[in-house]
Amino acid sequence: MSGRFDLLATDGKARRGRIHTAHGIVNTPAFMPVGTAGTVKAMLPESVKATGAEIVLGNTYHLMLRPGAERVASFGGLHKFMNWPGPILTDSGGFQAMSLSDLRKISEQGVEFRSHIDGSKHMLTPERSIEIQDLLDSNITMVLDECTPFPATPEQAAESMRRSMRWAARCREAFRDRDGYLLFGIVQGGIYPNLRRESAEALVRIGFDGYAIGGLAIGEGQQQMFGVLDYTPDLLPREKPRYLMGVGKPGDIVGAVARGIDMFDCVMPTRSGRTGLAHTRYGDINMRNARHASDDRPIDPKCACPACSAYVRGYIHHLMKTKEILGAMLLTWHNLHYYQELMQGMRAAIEQGRLADFIAEFERGQALGDL
Ligand code: GUN
Ligand code: ZN
Repeated sequence: MSGRFDLLATDGKARRGRIHTAHGIVNTPAFMPVGTAGTVKAMLPESVKATGAEIVLGNTYHLMLRPGAERVASFGGLHKFMNWPGPILTDSGGFQAMSLSDLRKISEQGVEFRSHIDGSKHMLTPERSIEIQDLLDSNITMVLDECTPFPATPEQAAESMRRSMRWAARCREAFRDRDGYLLFGIVQGGIYPNLRRESAEALVRIGFDGYAIGGLAIGEGQQQMFGVLDYTPDLLPREKPRYLMGVGKPGDIVGAVARGIDMFDCVMPTRSGRTGLAHTRYGDINMRNARHASDDRPIDPKCACPACSAYVRGYIHHLMKTKEILGAMLLTWHNLHYYQELMQGMRAAIEQGRLADFIAEFERGQALGDL
């Protein structure tokens, strides 16, 4: 700690803000493209920047296994290693270890797991997670936590959340304070309001530069997720940024911004780009569908991205059917451009006090569908 967060404007519960880091500023509400292994897949860093992204996400779990945190540090940190000079947020590793690795085991000490790559044994403690994120030179470090599975009984969710809160205190102790480097706590507690409140209070007592909401978008559905988001942001300090982890679809993000969330990350736009799904103002379009084969229109005539400016649907359909790398590149660019334009639209709308109109227009477009 610490970094600065300026709250510039509000519209209902929605907020327009600015995070200051040692590697630059982040305008919020912000969407962070996922660069798991030191690359936003299928994109050059300058292309990521050109979509309007100001910050990318990296993963402790992947980078500690390959090429190793000490190796990244020997190259001068992740910014230099991946040629992304802007802000970087890193997730702490527990979530990925639990979902990707074999034979994982949680104890008070931390998460023990076997690498999904070579089966080697690793122990991720709160202290080691913070050390790795420091070696990576992460601007926004996340505490080690357990993403409580869904569904969970109140007893299971409480036990899991309370262990994450003890880990959060250990992470705060282990974190090396530097100007422009932020440490975020993560609220857990499943779908239980009393547990979300207990978790938020525990984190605020420790004190963090920002607060994430974890344990959502894991199968509970949008209605229950919005249910949690209807009260959890109100439990957090107004003057600190709020980050909803792993979310989401465009409609999830719009609904969460209206409920007071400032930051998002999700593999959706990049992963969809590689599998042939285009996210647009008229909803999702599967570019592998045969109806596009002879279509000479762009994906979205109103989109200013390189894919929509110079290529027709029939060509992008062909690239996806033949599994050409350029297909993944163009669709990923389009999807990231769409997500960033959506965030920019919400930032402008909040400044002008017209977010409700913006959301109504967004929903009209999504309901209209691709014609
Ligand atoms: N990514 C998505 N959900 C979570 C979560 O609950 N915790 C962490 N650390 N990362 C996440
Ligand atoms: Zn486009």
